[in-house]
Amino acid sequence: MILFSGSSCVSLGRKVAAGLGARLGEAKIDRFPDGEIYLRALTPVKGEECVLVQSTLGNGNLVELILFMDLLRDRGASKIHAVVPYLGYARQDKSFNEGEALSAKTVLKVLHEFPDTLTTVNCHFLDKEGSFQFHGIELTNIDAFPLLAAYFKDRLKNPVLIAPDKGSLHYAKHAAEAIGCEFDFLQKKRLTSEKVLIETKKLSVAGKDALILDDMISTGGTIIEAARLLKSQGAASVSVGCVHGVFSHGVEGVKSAVDSLVCTDTIDRGGISAVSVAGLIAKSLQR
Ligand code: R5P
Repeated sequence: MILFSGSSCVSLGRKVAAGLGARLGEAKIDRFPDGEIYLRALTPVKGEECVLVQSTLGNGNLVELILFMDLLRDRGASKIHAVVPYLGYARQDKSFNEGEALSAKTVLKVLHEFPDTLTTVNCHFLDKEGSFQFHGIELTNIDAFPLLAAYFKDRLKNPVLIAPDKGSLHYAKHAAEAIGCEFDFLQKKRLTSEKVLIETKKLSVAGKDALILDDMISTGGTIIEAARLLKSQGAASVSVGCVHGVFSHGVEGVKSAVDSLVCTDTIDRGGISAVSVAGLIAKSLQR
């Protein structure tokens, strides 16, 4: 088995390859002067089963993934397993307003043309681990919440797990079981893509170490609002773990609003990506 990493997942890809005992494939990934992506496979793949790991934060990474999968097919790979740890466009899984593009469906329709299997991690529109059909497209979803919970288990004295909205309740419940603590959720209303309103609700967090786990942090609006509410209700500390550190407005605003912040390496955020999903991906592919 040969594993190729796209440019967004170089370090994660290396770890997954080690977990799988796969050879690392080499490719040249560059940009043409006009910004278009140049791609060349340097490792022969004819008759080989290949894994390709690439997150699609940003349109360039998405195009790179499409080019890469088709290239492996053209070069004669016998099987292609696409692993998209962070699947972009997943938040547009419905037409929330009349006439809006169902972008999650469109992106998956394109992606699923090329590989034999498609695997992702905490896909935004799924709330469980397993195999799913989305508009007839099959994909495997891996849950990294228990890994985040395990990271915090010995670091927090008196934890209480808080889901930032009802959507992540199932994941949060699972993670709370892994820590052996109570859990609750917040009522969130999204006002715009930049602003959220967290409704005031009485929580039993006074004197406790609140832990918020979320699938992603984008602008940080959700976490900043949630941390403010938890602190106003007497939480001794507020820690945050998220699977996908998108951080569209940078990480500093979120960091300064909480006591500790950690994300996984579905998107490589250097030291903040302290939890690796490599083992989960390798295990899922082995299955
Ligand atoms: C929402 O349903 C998600 O679970 C996240 O809470 C949300 O996408 C985070 O976005 P932001 O950081 O922009 O508030």
